[in-house]
Amino acid sequence: MKLLVTGGAGYVGGVCATVLLERGHEVVILDDLSTGNRDGIPEGATFIEGDVATKIGDVLDSTFDGVLHFAARSLVGESVEKPGEYWQGNVVTSLTLLDAMRSTGVDNLVFSSTAATYGEPEQVPITEDMPTRPTNTYGATKLAIDHAITSYAKAHGLAATSLRYFNVAGAYGSAGENRVVETHLIPLVLQVALGHREDIKVFGDDWPTPDGTCVRDYIHVADLADAHVLALETNSAGVHRILNLGSGEGFSVREVIDVCREVTGHPIPDVIAPRRAGDPAVLVASSSKAIDELGWSPSRTDLRTVVEDAWAFTSNLGDRAHSAPR
Ligand code: UFG
Repeated sequence: MKLLVTGGAGYVGGVCATVLLERGHEVVILDDLSTGNRDGIPEGATFIEGDVATKIGDVLDSTFDGVLHFAARSLVGESVEKPGEYWQGNVVTSLTLLDAMRSTGVDNLVFSSTAATYGEPEQVPITEDMPTRPTNTYGATKLAIDHAITSYAKAHGLAATSLRYFNVAGAYGSAGENRVVETHLIPLVLQVALGHREDIKVFGDDWPTPDGTCVRDYIHVADLADAHVLALETNSAGVHRILNLGSGEGFSVREVIDVCREVTGHPIPDVIAPRRAGDPAVLVASSSKAIDELGWSPSRTDLRTVVEDAWAFTSNLGDRAHSAPR
């Protein structure tokens, strides 16, 4: 298939583009490099620099078979401070994309959604029929796009899947986490092991969890990429599926840091810090629907594998690490 991958220079988009190329698909990446970087663009992809809102009309035509839409603003804290950038950059941009798909007759879509659409869950594991009450603007914009996709599927026959990611981590091929602004737990912990920061701040140890730190569901980015390929291949006209992607197992912040200590052999000092605004105590996915409907079989679900792959990537970055002292 000839596929447009928006945001394909970013972490998740880059890994998915890599896997699509490996499966023999033709990949065109559209990315404005606002948070992605050239290093993340896989060999063999055609790269077009530009943002989706202004470029999509020039790039998308009827020769494409489908779109994987990753391009988005995705920092929870920033989304609360600058909501306009998120409503514009995520929702308005996605509507422009949906209209371009409609006018060109490109009718197969996989959308990068998030666990943040659920907000604070009433129970875990979270299934797709649970209430969606996002606690931040980022989650609200992704939920709004999910709703838009549902109505385009019903009205215009779009074949679509929204994949709601839990905590994506690990690396694959030459793609991994190397953001200019890093806020995610595992890459930050590994930056301590690299000597690029002194310690890791643990955001609260008084949560209602077994060790008092937040529990999350970490999914390997390569398993996540497999789900995108399967979604694309099994989408059907007029149907919008919404599927969670996680490992189904929760690990506390302390447990994650301990695994990073084992894998890196570094003591990784930690410091207890105040709770971070907007953090739910526990987020764990039920991925049963994705497993049933996609025939997805995640094979790298254990946390040690996730951390080992992330560490192999991070420790090889050298000067290319954005966290490296300059
Ligand atoms: N954490 C720390 N110290 C840090 C960074 C994170 O203790 O320096 C903690 C957080 O408080 C949280 C856990 O580690 O409990 C994981 O935090 P991340 O920032 O790595 O990930 P989040 O769970 O906040 O975010 C993920 C996705 C988001 C999505 C969100 C849904 O990355 O895209 O889940 O709540 F919106």
